[in-house]
This record gives sequence, structure tokens and C-alpha cells, in this order.
Amino acid sequence: MVLIIPSIALPRFQILKFSNYSFGINPYFCALTNYTNMYRTHHCGELTISNTKTPVTLAGWVKTIRKFGSITFVDLRDRYGITQLFFNESMTQVLETAGIGREYVVQVEGNVQERSNKNPNMATGDIEIAVEKYTILNASLTPPFTLEDETDGGDELRMKYRFLDLRRDAIKKNMELRYKVSRAARNFLDAQHFMEVETPMLIKSTPEGARDFVVPSRMHAGQFYALPQSPQLFKQLLMVAGYDKYYQIVKCFRDEDLRADRQPEFTQIDCEMSFVEQEDILKTFEGMTRQIIKDVSGHEFTDDFPRMTYDVAMEEYGNDKPDIRFEMKLKTLNEVVKGNGFSVFDDAELVIGIAANGCSEYTRKQTDELTEWVKRPQIGMKGLVFIKVNADGSFKSSVDKFYNEAHLKTIATTCGAQAGDLILILAGEKNLTRKAISELRLEMGKRLGLRNAAIMKPLWVTDFPLFEYDAEGERFIACHHPFTSPKPEHLEWMRDKSKYADIKANAYDLVINGTEIGGGSIRIFNKDIQELMFEALGMTKEEATEKFGFLLSAFEYGTPPHGGIALGFDRLCAVLGGSDSIRDFIAFPKNNAGRDMMLDAPGNIDAKQRKELGL
Ligand code: AMO
Repeated sequence: MVLIIPSIALPRFQILKFSNYSFGINPYFCALTNYTNMYRTHHCGELTISNTKTPVTLAGWVKTIRKFGSITFVDLRDRYGITQLFFNESMTQVLETAGIGREYVVQVEGNVQERSNKNPNMATGDIEIAVEKYTILNASLTPPFTLEDETDGGDELRMKYRFLDLRRDAIKKNMELRYKVSRAARNFLDAQHFMEVETPMLIKSTPEGARDFVVPSRMHAGQFYALPQSPQLFKQLLMVAGYDKYYQIVKCFRDEDLRADRQPEFTQIDCEMSFVEQEDILKTFEGMTRQIIKDVSGHEFTDDFPRMTYDVAMEEYGNDKPDIRFEMKLKTLNEVVKGNGFSVFDDAELVIGIAANGCSEYTRKQTDELTEWVKRPQIGMKGLVFIKVNADGSFKSSVDKFYNEAHLKTIATTCGAQAGDLILILAGEKNLTRKAISELRLEMGKRLGLRNAAIMKPLWVTDFPLFEYDAEGERFIACHHPFTSPKPEHLEWMRDKSKYADIKANAYDLVINGTEIGGGSIRIFNKDIQELMFEALGMTKEEATEKFGFLLSAFEYGTPPHGGIALGFDRLCAVLGGSDSIRDFIAFPKNNAGRDMMLDAPGNIDAKQRKELGL
């Protein structure tokens, strides 16, 4: 029998099975919710051999259709899995009359039967449904790309049809992971008596580092709200209000250049606590991170997360978010290479090298290719020097003319290179060269398979500088944000500009596998120090009052010592999902140009709207 109905439900089925809704444990193999379901008795991921001969009704999307002569097999997909449908000869005729196509939404009634050709890789691979009744609930156009893990759709096309892309298993798993991360975070924070408080989305423009997104006000023509870059000041004001443990899983907006790990709107797990020191924050949020990772991946860390100061991170890894899944630490070589007539090294502000394990056999083609890699504009170096430490301990280098065996041995020892290693050396201006060698280290780590996504290596980076010098603006800016407190022992240096670069902050980052997952600080909670900070950042008293008067005022009404952190929720999900790109962990992301390809936003507004807004 066939029924073709375009819409409305058929209220005919009582649920056959009541069981616990165990989504959290394994979303694919759980039973349907324990309320009466009008359309289906089971979902597509749960039927097994034990259900043989059970009459069932399933509803879902047609994934694949395989016709063998007069019979047909269809894979039916829903959120929970895939079930094979078997259409015998007469039902195949019904099917042909009614029609079927990929992504049609259909409902079938039939009996569970054992499959003759079992698929051990599928949860439902032992059974199929012998279809007795077929109903098309809705037809579908042929999707513009295949909805498989390995899809033929390019990024832009998949984003345009995101509602189809979300049907793909790979993306669906990411969405489930995201939900589990938020649930684990909420469970942890709730158990620790944190309270979720919402903060406004329409606020005043007080840029925290990036550009603000602004929203024109109709009622106050010519004036603008800004969307928050983070709820930083609100959470501090909640501490003033006495809500001593706050959190919020919250959208933040930053108009900055986008990368794989940056979206213009992203989500933070934003937290703040009163009466705490740095150690309290690190312990609490290390606990939360452990709990999330355990809940989501089952992995338990035995040791405390390592800690590294910012200075050591910069010295040994060349950046403040070291990927410690592998060593290959940077070694400064100025002293050991100078004075041999090689002007590239002698004239360089920084000569720095790494030893890549087991790469001494690299061919000329491979080393040439690495040289081209460092010469790319993104890296910006002029060249790359190689020293091969051969298996017999002898050396072969691109600078043999200037350095004899003894010299090369000293360089190799300094770099910690062993027989079989390849030493890579860059030389040039200090900051550029450090950044370049840090990138080269990551690239070599990738090429050598040392950045295994299945391994989680978190660490805390601490003791960040309070200020960084902005050469373009010729001024000091806050390294984290202007509400971060200096180390108490450096407080006095805030009155001496010549000391600014040396002041360390009570600021810390959580880093996992080379990604900055979170950042936070112990805050200034004294009006005078906050004013001193604004002054150091080049703000006049009037400007400070105009921008942050409410905070300075709050500081006069009993502010507790406080501090906090915000974890990048999307980044945490991506790291847990073993991906560099946060896009695949966001249901409706923007592309790298900040466009929503599906909505085609941003878009124009009409003249009337413009006029109303005084634009
Ligand atoms: P911060 O600016 O370091 O700190 O942000 C915290 C974390 O948010 C994530 N993040 C982003 N993720 C995706 N796209 C972006 N554009 C983006 N920008 C930041 C990162 C980052 O570590 N208010 C302070 C926190 C505090 O001091 O408590 C803040 O926002 O993972």
C-alpha cells in the first residue's frame, strides 16, 4: 500500500517501547523519547536482532537507494543512525509508482527481519525492515553535493546549504560534541555553585582590542550600540554586586581578521569569581577542563596541567601558545655561530635553530621545498640554513664554507641534535625570526606526524606582560585587557614609563595542543590603580570617565578582590574534535570573509529603514 501525503501527522501509532532516553551516553543507540510518538515507533539507530519480527514504523531521510532486479534496498537515515529497508517485489512496484529519491522524507511500516548480508560496521547491521507500507512525507530536490563524510561539495556550497551539510554524519557528530561540552561545563559549574547570569547584547562601544560591531539606534538617531566583545565589565560588576561565582555560555562579537580559529561571532564559557587569587582560578578551571574532557572523550589526566611562564614559552617555543605534544625546542645560536665570516649570521639580531629528529636523509628537493616554505610572504624569511647530522655522526651543511666540523658539532650540541637529525637555522630581525622558527617548528611537527589530534596536551601559560608596545600606534596597549592587575611587586613600576615593558600581569592562558583555549586574569579592584592603568594606556581622566565611568563608580562601592577566565567554547570543541577549524563546530558559521553564505548576510537595508535610523 502507498500513501503520499504532503504534510500533517498520522496519529495512529502508539510507542511500542519505553526506555530511558540515554542521549548523553550514546546518542546513536538509544530509544526514542518516552512519550507517545505519532510518526514513528523507533528511530533509525536502535533496532537489533533482538527486535526480529517486531512490527515497527520508522520515519527519516532516504540516504541511498539500491535496486537489484525486482527488489530494492533503501538506507533510511535520521539523527540517530541508519536502518536498511527491504522492499520485496510487490513493494518495489509500489515504490516505483509512488517515487523515491535521495533525501525524500518517508515513513515506512514493516517487520524487523534478520539480514542475509550482515554489516558488522553498522549498529543496525544485523537487521532490515521488510517494508509493508510506504508513505512519502515530503519529496526532496537532489542535493547539490553528496551528504557523505567525504563529500564532493566545496566549502562555500556546503555553507550555502548548511541545513543539508548539517545532515552529514561528520558535522552532526561535531554538533553532538558541542552539546556535550556545554552540558559538561554547566554540570561542573553548577556543582561548584556558579550561577549563570545573562548580560546585555546591546552595549556601549568600548573596544577591548578588536573592532566593535555596532548597531544604529532608531530612538537615538545618529547614536550606536555596540555588540559585546565579551561580557568582561558586566561580570566584574556582578562581583561588585556580590554574585561571587558567575558563569555564562555567551555569544561574543569581534570585528577582526578571520582565521580557521576565529569567527566574528563566537561563544565563550565566561566565568568570574570573587575572593580569589590566581591559584584558585587555575585550580577551578583546570578542574572544569578535566571534567569536560573526561565527559566528552573519556580521557582522564593523571598529572596536573604543566605551567610555563610567558617568557619561557617565547624562548623555547617562539610563541605564547606552545604545542607541547612534541619537543623540538628553539635554541638561540648567536654566540656559537658568530665571527666566522658568514655575514647572514654575523649581522643578524637573532640566529635560532631547531633539530628535526630523523630528517638527516632529507633530499635536496625536500630542503629546497622547505626553503621555499620559509620564503613565503606569510613567513617572510630570506633563506634557511641546514646542517645534517649523518648517521655516522659526520656533518653536511649548506654553510660548510664557513664552519668546520668542530663548529658544526658545537652548533649540533647546542641544538640538542643527535645522529640522524636535521638542524634548521633561521637568522634575521628578532621578532620576525622568532615567529618564523616557531611556525617552522609547527610545520615540521606536522610533517613528522608529531601533532597527533588524538593526544591532548594542555598547559597553563602564566606571567604575561601587562603591556605590549604597539609600534604602529607608538604607544603601550594592554596585553590582555585594561582591567588586568599587575603583579603586586610590579605595581610601582606603573608610575614609570621606562618600566612598562617589564611589568608582569596576573594573567594566564589555557593552551591545548598549541591553541589558545582560554584567557583570564586577576582584576584590578581599586579605583586608583584602575585610573593609573587608564593613564598608562594614554587615556585622559575625561576619556576614562566617559568610557568607563560606571566601572570607576562601582569601585567606590565596595568591590571584592576578583578574577576570572573565558574559554573559547568553539575552540575547545574543535580541539576535542581533533580539528583546526572552529567552523565545523558551529551550526551556522560565517565564511572567512565574515559572510553568512546561506542568509547572504550582511545585506542591504531599504531606504526607509536607513532613514529611520538616521543613516
Ligand atoms: P580573550 O579575549 O582572551 O579574553 O578571549 C577568551 C577566549 O575566547 C576565544 N576567542 C575566540 N574564539 C573564536 N573566535 C574569536 N574571534 C575569538 N576571540 C577569542 C579564545 C580566547 O582564549 N574577557 C576576557 C576573559 C577574561 O579576562 O576573563 C576575554 O574575552 O579561545
